[in-house]
Amino acid sequence: MCGIVGCVTSERNAPYLLVDGLRRLEYRGYDSAGLAVIKDGEIVTLREVGKLNNLESALKASGLGGTIGLGHTRWATHGRPTQVNAHPHRDGSGKIVVVHNGIIENFRELRAELRDQGHVFASETDSEVIAHLIESCYRGDLAQAVLEATRRLEGAYAIGVMHADHPEMLVGARKDGPLVIGLGENENFLASDVTAALEHTSRFVYLDDGQVAELTRDGLRILDASGHEQPYVQTNIAWSLAQAERGGYPHFMLKEIHEQPTVISDTLLGRLDETRGEIVLDDLGIDDEAARAISRIHIIACGTSWHAGHVAKFYIEQLARIPVEVDYASEYRYRDPILDPDGLVVAISQSGETADTIAAMRMARQAGVRVVGVCNVIGSTISREADGSIMTHAGPEIGVASTKAFISQLVALLLLALRLGRARGHLSVDELRRHCLELRQLPQVVENVLKTEGRVLEVARRFAGAQDFLFIGRGMNYPIALEGALKLKEISYIHAEGYPSGEMKHGPIALIDERMPVVAICTRSPVYEKVITSVEEARVRDAKMIVIGNEGDEKITEIADETIFVPHVAEILSPIVNVVPLQLLAYFVARERGCDVDQPRNLAKSVTVE
Ligand code: F6R
Repeated sequence: MCGIVGCVTSERNAPYLLVDGLRRLEYRGYDSAGLAVIKDGEIVTLREVGKLNNLESALKASGLGGTIGLGHTRWATHGRPTQVNAHPHRDGSGKIVVVHNGIIENFRELRAELRDQGHVFASETDSEVIAHLIESCYRGDLAQAVLEATRRLEGAYAIGVMHADHPEMLVGARKDGPLVIGLGENENFLASDVTAALEHTSRFVYLDDGQVAELTRDGLRILDASGHEQPYVQTNIAWSLAQAERGGYPHFMLKEIHEQPTVISDTLLGRLDETRGEIVLDDLGIDDEAARAISRIHIIACGTSWHAGHVAKFYIEQLARIPVEVDYASEYRYRDPILDPDGLVVAISQSGETADTIAAMRMARQAGVRVVGVCNVIGSTISREADGSIMTHAGPEIGVASTKAFISQLVALLLLALRLGRARGHLSVDELRRHCLELRQLPQVVENVLKTEGRVLEVARRFAGAQDFLFIGRGMNYPIALEGALKLKEISYIHAEGYPSGEMKHGPIALIDERMPVVAICTRSPVYEKVITSVEEARVRDAKMIVIGNEGDEKITEIADETIFVPHVAEILSPIVNVVPLQLLAYFVARERGCDVDQPRNLAKSVTVE
C-alpha cells in the first residue's frame, strides 16, 4: 500500500522530514516516491522511480527547502510505476497537489466528466482525478473544497492536499484507508501510519471515515462529512519504531493475516456490478465472445499460488463449465504440454517475478496461446507481459509465507470464474447477483473468523512439540489442506503432509498413531459426510484430531480432540474462510517453537531463479 507523509513546521527542513518519514514507511513496499513543497508561493514537486535514495539525491541536488510539504511512496495499482504516475499529482492550475493511498472506483467516470470541462490529465492514475476534482470545487476554502470533492469519490482513499495559496495549511481526508495526524511541538504531521512521525511525536489523532482534517503548524481542525467542526481525541502511542512498522503486531505475518478482510474488500473494489449483473475486470482483455470461445484453461503457478490455482479449477469448472488443468510452472515448461490456440493460460503469481512461471508463460505466448496474469505487483514481469491481467490488490506482502496474497488470489480467481460463467450463459443475472451479495459480506465473515485466534493459540500450544502433521480436506477444501501443510512446514519446520481425505487410506494412514495430529477441514459441503468418515478412520488409529467445522455442528465436538469453529458460508467461499485458522495455526506453532516467522530459513520471498 502507498505511504503518505505530510508536515507543516517552523524550520525550513520540511522536505528532509518528508524523506525521513517515507523511509519509515519503506517496509510497506513501493516502486516510486515523490514529494511536493511550497516555495515562494509556488508548488515544487520531485518524483523518482525506484528507491527513496533516488528521491533523496534529487532533493539534495535541487537544494529545495520549505516549511510545508507532502511526500508519498507509491505501490502501483492503476498505471505503471513511472515518474509521471508517481505522486504528488497536480491539478490543472498547478496550485493544488494531492497524495493518495487507495483506489478510486469511479475515476473513469470522473475523469471523463472533468475532461469535458476542459481538464487535461498527465498520468494514467486514478489519483490524479482527485486533484482536478478539488480544483473544480475550490472557491477559496481548501478544506471545504476537499469535503465537496470527496463526496463524489467512490472507493477507498486516504489523501493529503496542499494549495499554493495556503502556504501554512495541509488538508487530509479518509474513507476506508488509514490516516493519522501527529501533533508535535510547533509542527504537525499527516501520515498513513504512526511510524512516519513517531520520531517527532507520540501524540496522535486517528481520523475517522468521512472526516476532513485541516492542519497548521500549531492548530488542528477536524470537520465531519457535513463540514461541522468536531472535537477529537488524542492517543498516546508508546510503540518503538520496529513495533510501529508492524502495526503493533509481533510479526508481519500476523499483521498480514489480520489485514485479510481489507484485502478482500480491496480486491472486490469496483468489480461487482449488481445493477448490470456483471463482474468488471477491466484489464482481463477477454470480451464475452472470446470467453465463449475458450476451449480449456491451463493454470500455471508455484507454491501457494499453485494451491490457489487448484481452488480455481473448482471455481471455473463449476461456474463456467470450462475444463481446467493445473500445473506446476516448473513442470509445465519442460513437459511439452499440448498448447491449444483456443485455450487460455492463467499464470498466478504474487510477485509476478517467479522465474518458472515467467518461463512457462512465455512458452505459452510464443505458441500463440493467450495468457492472463493474476498478480499482486503491478509493473512486474508477468503483469507486463501477459495479454491480460487481474491485479489482486493485497498490498505489499512482507512475511515470506504468503497469507493475504493467497486470499486475494482466491477472490480474484472467483471473480474470473463468475465473469466467464456469466459470459458463457452458465450463470443467470440473479445467480450472479446472489454471488455478489455473498462476496460483499465476506470481509465481515473473515473478520469474525479472526476471532478464533485465542482458540487456535490454545491448540498450537498443545501441539507445538509434534514432529509431523497431516492435513486433510476434500473437494475445494483439499487444496486448502495442502496450503495448511505448506504454511506449517515453511515457518515451523515441522514435517507436514496435505492430502485429499479420500486418499488417506491409499497410503498416509500408515503414518497415523497417537503422536500424529491430523487437521481435518470438515465444514458443511456435499462431501461433508465423506470427510467425517476419514476423521473416524484416523481417530480409531489414535490420531489426535483437530477439526475445523461450522459453528453449531455438535457432531464435530464428539469426534474431535480439538475443534475450531468458523461461520457457515456458501461452499465456494469456504476455502477463503477455512484457510484463515490454518494460517493462524502455522503462525502460533512457529512462534511457540521460537522460529523466525517472517524470514524462515532457506526461503526467499520471490524466487527469481529456476
Ligand atoms: C509460500 C510461498 C511460496 C510462493 C511461491 C510462488 O508461502 O510464498 O510458495 O507462493 O514461491 O511465488 P509467486 O506467487 O510470487 O509466484
